[in-house]
Amino acid sequence: MRIREQSQLYPPITKPTASPWQHRHILDLDDFSRQEMEFLFHTADAMKEILGREIKRVPTLRGKTVVTMFYEPSTRTRLSFEMAAKSLGADVTSITAATSSAVKGESLVDTVRTIQALGSDVLVMRHPCSGAPYLVAQQVASSVVNAGDGWHAHPTQALLDLYTIRSHHGGVEGAKAVIIGDILHSRVARSNIWGLTIMGAQVVLCGPPTLLPRFWGQAYPQAIIEPDIEAALADADIIMVLRLQRERQQGGLLPSIEEYVRLYQLDERRLALAKPDALVMHPGPVNEGIEIAPEVAHGAQSVIEEQVANGVAVRMALLYLLAGGAH
Ligand code: CP
Repeated sequence: MRIREQSQLYPPITKPTASPWQHRHILDLDDFSRQEMEFLFHTADAMKEILGREIKRVPTLRGKTVVTMFYEPSTRTRLSFEMAAKSLGADVTSITAATSSAVKGESLVDTVRTIQALGSDVLVMRHPCSGAPYLVAQQVASSVVNAGDGWHAHPTQALLDLYTIRSHHGGVEGAKAVIIGDILHSRVARSNIWGLTIMGAQVVLCGPPTLLPRFWGQAYPQAIIEPDIEAALADADIIMVLRLQRERQQGGLLPSIEEYVRLYQLDERRLALAKPDALVMHPGPVNEGIEIAPEVAHGAQSVIEEQVANGVAVRMALLYLLAGGAH
């Protein structure tokens, strides 16, 4: 039997010839250009093709080390980064707050310097403090990817959301994208406002005044504030429902969960106000029956599971662009 050529085993990743890619770190989307995002999505298409092969692995990042450092719980983000790194042939090491010397009083800076000394090319980190990845990016030679920092940003979630919309609608130019729910505590909402508006969508934010304070209108003048859910949903192309983050609420922000469900849950009656081909999205984890009715979460317009699956391809593309010498 003839041994197959290496090039046949691992067909090269195809990418557009001219690279607009500028990023060494992924901290948020406010410093992204539309060209960079489009380039990333083209690269994610190539990664999706790899994930569709019988052997879902290429050696592109062989010899590189990806460290995942999650100081807050995660299912989707952590797993998909680890799967993405392994599919590209990288070595993956993981630490959590509970298993690191943070429990013995070691500072975040000392921890990441130790990780750097042991050898890391990309550090993927989730931290409860907004801004922590920015501090770390100043301390280490490796690339830093923000996998969620406090209430501030979750750029890779917003990128996979945009990629999922692109796979259905071709893009978001001119689309009405409605983000509903606990906007105040949502790093996903903050990153999506940047991502969606940079790509040309009109963003509408909807939630109770305690979870969508008036100052958001000044903080994000590119978005429309619409507390009335029926008005917000009228003719929407994209609906992003957010989890009610009860663990981040100090109390007193909602009279009751029942009232929130009555006034803000995305149910079938409210979904009917949007365009018939509107996409129903949720970053997860989902509180079914609270912010979204089960029949909507699992209905024909829901792309929630697709979002999770696309997370692997988008994160493969990011790791490749950061560590694979694509500059
Ligand atoms: N969407 C998201 O960040 O999910 P996890 O908390 O499970 O990673």
